[in-house]
Amino acid sequence: MSALLRRLGRLVHSLYARIAVVYLTSLLLLSVAAAWIAISQFDQLEREFLQRQEIDLADNLARVMRPGLDAGADSDAAREIARHIASINPSLSLYVLDAEGAVIADFTESACGLGGRVERDSLEALLGEDPMLPVLAASPCGGRPGIFSVARIVHGEGQRPGYLYVDLTSASRASMVAMLRTSSITRTLVAAGLLALLISGIFGLVWFALLTRRFSQLTTAVQRFAEGDYGERVAVPRDDEIGRLAGAFNDMAGTIEAQLAALRETDRQRRELVANLSHDFRTPLTSLRGYAEQLLERDEVSPGERKRALGAILDNADRLTRLAEQLSTQARLDAHDRPLACEPFSLAELAHDIVGKFQPQAGKLGVSLQVVGDPSLPWVEADLGLIDRALSNLVENALHATPAGGWVRLELDQAREGVRLAVVDNGIGIAAGEVPLVTQRFYRTRGSQARGEGSGLGLSIVREICERHGMTLSIDSRQGVGTRVSLLLPYASGRGA
Ligand SMILES: Nc1ncnc2c1ncn2[C@@H]1O[C@H](COP(=O)(O)OP(=O)(O)OP(=O)(O)O)[C@@H](O)[C@H]1O
Ligand SMILES: [Mg+2]
Repeated sequence: MSALLRRLGRLVHSLYARIAVVYLTSLLLLSVAAAWIAISQFDQLEREFLQRQEIDLADNLARVMRPGLDAGADSDAAREIARHIASINPSLSLYVLDAEGAVIADFTESACGLGGRVERDSLEALLGEDPMLPVLAASPCGGRPGIFSVARIVHGEGQRPGYLYVDLTSASRASMVAMLRTSSITRTLVAAGLLALLISGIFGLVWFALLTRRFSQLTTAVQRFAEGDYGERVAVPRDDEIGRLAGAFNDMAGTIEAQLAALRETDRQRRELVANLSHDFRTPLTSLRGYAEQLLERDEVSPGERKRALGAILDNADRLTRLAEQLSTQARLDAHDRPLACEPFSLAELAHDIVGKFQPQAGKLGVSLQVVGDPSLPWVEADLGLIDRALSNLVENALHATPAGGWVRLELDQAREGVRLAVVDNGIGIAAGEVPLVTQRFYRTRGSQARGEGSGLGLSIVREICERHGMTLSIDSRQGVGTRVSLLLPYASGRGA
């Protein structure tokens, strides 16, 4: 019961109820106005018709009353004839007016017209040629102007001019009422009007119900979405305003759902990053601590052992430093709102600087490291810090992958769109199936996992640096032959090829 009452309450306060009330009220007002206009026009038409029909009535009556009027306008003879006429048609009111329109004889039962007058202009208007009907005049007894018939007469012994005035107002009213009551046309018209009113009422209510139902569906979808059902969508059957609103809701829901999925993915990656990093930090730290304790606890350490322990400590410190560097680069790349600090620079110079930086490491590994290419190539435009990081990562990878006696080259050459730089080595190479995977965050090849080196961040950082610059990174590798990783940097403006 209470649920029914709640539903009823919701319906009363609904948009549908308000639209329905406004619609039905306007429909009713419109019908009343239309009926009023129709009736008044009908009334006017009927008066015109009756006056046209009875325009000669006064003339005919004047002829009948002539003997009486000759005896005098208010003579007994005239009264006798008037009584006779009234007995035949009681709805006629007869008056004799003087030449100015003042009543000099009133043959009605109430004799209310004595002392009254009729506008002479109205009398003359009806007597004129081709009068515009209906001509209305206020009856000598007062009341609203009505239709009449008039004839010029002479009366009394002096044959004074005057008018015989026949008031047709009550005749017209009687015929109108009779017509409304008995006319089949009127009845059909009223019935047709009521039927049209009913049909348009029902049609409007059904149509509004269908219209507001689509709104309700949209509201339900929005509510479900707000409650966390992000897969909620609405059907868009038509391209009207509601259809477009539903389409916009679907688009918005799609965008929010995609953004949520992206947020979840970022969150997952962040958790994975923290888990991986804690592992990557712990391993060198444990090793560092182990060597440091060894040096501290043992009183007598041979110079060879000390050198080995200190070397291992330095290696682990380097590994931690590299990890910290990778992380700071990654953090910079993750801050998407931070713009790149692009500047023009010579890629050849940067390549030489990097080779200089890694030369001691290459020397230790017994790998030859050199730059190949024209040192006077045009300048490029990019974020110098990030490109330095990317090339360092590539050279580090190449050195790690190349056994003693091998070589690593930084090859520079000029292309149409910019300067291409490739880090090429003749090292162990990457298995074909792993090439597409090595740029994923934390991905390490099976061989490198076995050797326990690296964190798998380097190439994913290089890829992201290329993406931020709009450059493509290409990796060609054959196992046992070597690897070539290249990127193309755009020319600095004004320094094109
Ligand atoms: N030139 C190369 N030749 C052979 N294997 C390579 C080469 N470059 C990268 N790899 C392998 O691809 C994988 C991904 O490299 P990436 O640089 O992303 O990680 P990493 O070198 O293991 O760690 P990090 O660079 O973060 O210290 C690694 O396993 C690495 O050994
Ligand atoms: Mg690496």
